[in-house]
Amino acid sequence: EGQLLPSSSPYTLALPDLTNLFIDIKKALSGTSEELEEISCYYVDGQGKVMRPVITVLTARAVNEHVCKHHRLLSSQLEIAKVTEMIHTASLLHDDVLDMADTRRGKPSATQRYGQRKSVMAGNYMLSVALMMLGKLDNPEVTVVLSQVLTDLVQGEFMQLGSKEKEDERFSHYLDKSFKKTASLIANSCQAVAILGGADKMVQQMCYQYGRNVGIAFQLVDDFLDFAASSNVVGKPTAVDLRLGMATAPVLFACEKFPELIPMILRRFSEPGDVEFAMECVHRSDGLQQTKLLATQHCLHAISMLQQLAPSQEKLALIAITDRVINRIK
Ligand code: FPP
Ligand code: MG
Ligand code: MG
Repeated sequence: EGQLLPSSSPYTLALPDLTNLFIDIKKALSGTSEELEEISCYYVDGQGKVMRPVITVLTARAVNEHVCKHHRLLSSQLEIAKVTEMIHTASLLHDDVLDMADTRRGKPSATQRYGQRKSVMAGNYMLSVALMMLGKLDNPEVTVVLSQVLTDLVQGEFMQLGSKEKEDERFSHYLDKSFKKTASLIANSCQAVAILGGADKMVQQMCYQYGRNVGIAFQLVDDFLDFAASSNVVGKPTAVDLRLGMATAPVLFACEKFPELIPMILRRFSEPGDVEFAMECVHRSDGLQQTKLLATQHCLHAISMLQQLAPSQEKLALIAITDRVINRIK
């Protein structure tokens, strides 16, 4: 692998495959009422990180190189990249309703701009179009794998609504929730393109585990940024998790030093001063460092999953992406 030039950015390699991604998604969403089209396209604005399609495309090409020594993307694999981005975007339309979010990516949220009812319907519409595209691939295995994502997304949102009484269950509940709400989409998309590329079960599992670990790391960093970043940079308000009653990794780690947090976690930070107290504890503990460390460990695990794949530029880019996941600021 030494003689392969590392690409300057993991995105550069995936870019040629993705130039038409947003145009294609908008096309797929067209042909309905003008308003439904406008709302469902509202977050198809080129402002997202496109992380899911990039990982999907690079995994696909790394698998193709491994399986049949060419790294051309199959058109079915490109469809998965679109479906992935559409499932993600649909879930954001719904999420901003659930979270009562006023802004996203530095602009008014869809729910703020068009109202809750229309946002929900636009999300449903986008999801149904995505599922139609998936169906057209005519591959039952791939359909099952990506349908699992929808079950996981809904279950993840539900898990987020509850607090675990038992201390030893709290962290595993949090990690399981993080897998379901974030990592499942990435893991299963990676597996889907591996299936389409003709990979055997072992390679499929390696791709799945790569996506799973990168996804969990991504969510850990998201939860880190909710405390550490400024809302100007991320384009959405910060410290929202606490305000929504959610204890994420930084708070759960801070508990070790400040057990006074436990009753607050259990009442979901509902009493006056709870949110401020928890923020203070997080910043006075090593909760943020521990969260980053755990994310880093998941990224190292993700990298180790690629070990047996044939050398390729795409494989190097998948490794480089983990660095982005850890060090991103928005
Ligand atoms: C963002 O999390 C939200 C998600 C990753 C998933 C949301 C899932 C649903 C609403 C389930 C139903 C949706 C579909 C399409 C099946 P966040 O609120 O922590 O992040 P944010 O800061 O970006 O809002
Ligand atoms: Mg949200
Ligand atoms: Mg949410």
